[in-house]
This record gives sequence, C-alpha cells and structure tokens, in this order.
Amino acid sequence: MKMNRRVLTLDEFTIQELRNYPGATGQLSGLLRDIGLAAKRVNVEVNKAGIADILGEAGKTNVQGESVKKLDEFANDQLINSLATSIYCCGVASEENEDIICFEDEYSRNSKYVVLMDPLDGSGNIDVNVSIGTIFSIYRRLSPNGELCNIDDFLQPGSQQIAAGYIIYGSSTMLVYATRRSVQGFTLDPSIGEFCLSHPNLRVPETSDIFSVNMGYYHLYEEKVRKAIDIFMARNAGEKVYRHRFVGCMVSEIHRTLVQGGIFMYPAFGKYTEGRLRLCYECNPMSFLMEKAGGSAIADGERRLLDIKPRELHQRIPIYIGSTEMVSAVKETIR
Ligand code: AHG
Ligand code: MN
Ligand code: MN
Repeated sequence: MKMNRRVLTLDEFTIQELRNYPGATGQLSGLLRDIGLAAKRVNVEVNKAGIADILGEAGKTNVQGESVKKLDEFANDQLINSLATSIYCCGVASEENEDIICFEDEYSRNSKYVVLMDPLDGSGNIDVNVSIGTIFSIYRRLSPNGELCNIDDFLQPGSQQIAAGYIIYGSSTMLVYATRRSVQGFTLDPSIGEFCLSHPNLRVPETSDIFSVNMGYYHLYEEKVRKAIDIFMARNAGEKVYRHRFVGCMVSEIHRTLVQGGIFMYPAFGKYTEGRLRLCYECNPMSFLMEKAGGSAIADGERRLLDIKPRELHQRIPIYIGSTEMVSAVKETIR
C-alpha cells in the first residue's frame, strides 16, 4: 500500500537532525521531548479550564508579588516533574519559584543542561478564553558535571542559550523552538497527540504593518519612548497606516510577530522602572528565537538584549523585539 508522506513529528524531526550532525549526543533532543510531553499535559488542562474547577486564583502570590492562578501552579509542577524525571537536565529556574531547583539524583547531576521557564505566560487571559503560553530557555551548565548546579549556571547572558522556545495554547497548540541553527514550528495533532512539523525554518519578515505595545500606559512612558511609538501612528490620510495589536500575552505577541512580522514593545513605566517582563524567563528566550529567525531585539535605545548579563533571576528589562527594520527605527528614535 502506498502511503502519503505524512509530516514529521517532533521526535522524528530531532532524530533526523541528529543524523545530519554525527557528533551530536541526542541530549538536547531528549530534553525537547521531555518539555513537549509536559506541554501536552498542560494543554489538556488548559482546554478543560472552562469546565474544571481549575479556574481562578489559587489564593497565593508568586515571588513577583502577583496572584497565582491554579493553572500557573499546575504548569509549573508538570514542567518541573518532567525535567526532574528527565536524564538531560541538572536544574531548573522558574518564574513561580524564588530560588533555583537543583536535581540531586545521579543522572541529573551528570547532565549538562539547565532550563529556565515561565510555565504559564499571559495567565490573565485564562478566564476570558484568550491564548496563553509557556516559555523555556536552555543553557549548558558552567559548573562541573557530577556536582549540583549553582546560580551561576542560570545567570548567563542570553547569547549563551543553546535553545529556546515557547508553546502557545491558542486556536491550535503549537511548539516553536530555536537552536543555534534554525527556528522550527510544530502544531499539535490532537488525533495522535503529537507535535507535527508545520512551520519549518521560520523567518520573520523584515518589516510589516503591525505594532504592539500597551497604549494604556502611553503617557507614563518616557518622552523618547512615546516618540518611538509615534512612528507607527498615522496622522494624515495617505501616510502608511499601521495596525495596533495587544493581546496581553507575550507568547501570542511573539508568535504573531514571527509569522506576520511587526514589533512588540514593553517599555519601562511608573513603578516598573526596569520594565515589566522578566529577562531570564521571557525576554532572553524570545530574543534568541527572534534573532535566529532573522529579527532583532534590544533592551533600550542601544543594547542588544542578548548581551546583558543578568544580575539576578527575577530581573526585569524593557524590550523592543521583532522585524529588524522596525526595531532599528525605534532604536534610532530612542537614541
Ligand atoms: P505572566 O502571566 O507570566 O505574569 O505574564 C504576563 C505578561 C506578558 O506576557 C504580557 O505581555 C504582560 O504581562 C501584559 O501586562 P499588561 O496587561 O499589564 O501590559
Ligand atoms: Mn509571563
Ligand atoms: Mn507566568
């Protein structure tokens, strides 16, 4: 019987990649599979959120002082359990945990990767049935194999990432990840419960007509930031018209930007003097991914975001990320 060639699953794809790189050990592929498995478990709960008793606040606040929803906790537990069971990860840092978690068993102690994550991003969207996501970032440890990992393994500049990606729980569920070589997008096929390669070799358009920023804070942004935003606001008929989008979930903004191009901005304002989004869990992984797709990301007027050495795990940072031409225009104006 002749079969139509079906699309590759995540596992099939990473194994095929291994064949092209004979020196590779397969550990990163294994780690991606473990993250993918946790994501599928989270996906099932996300889809049930409307009917299960899982909606709403869990009644606690996270280390950022924000209220934690039940799904945040569930996603955090699933990912940590999956990584603890994995033999490819020696430790994890999460937006939901104050400190790093070092896995003590022998296999974990002897594995070379650490993972940083935002287990559930955009959790304010859960109650209103709008997309949410998971973000992850993978580094090679600096501490010697065999020992417990330590904080320095996690505080590396984003340029040192080995891989990074996100899962978006949207109208379909997708897993998108970048390695140093490329960006690949997989869509969950619910009929077989596998992520299938749907967006090979993703490249972000050099420019577009979409800009994204929380305009509610417009008057609280610094003047030079307001001027940068003004680039995208048409004043006269006949000028180029930009479309404004703001979902309230970074994963969704980045996913749209990757596919359709555009710029996503989260400047500092008010009490968020260092910006609102987290350097290690949100901005570094997304900047790595965007650069690998041909786009750019800066932290303020000048600095490439990936060059920043984190001071602390939960540090925040302003970000301007997306199509290179649009990020450059903002950079010129802010400078
Ligand atoms: P989290 O749910 O992990 O706390 O992150 C939500 C973040 C981010 O994804 C989004 O861009 C931002 O919060 C939206 O915040 P505002 O509505 O205050 O702009
Ligand atoms: Mn988040
Ligand atoms: Mn979160």
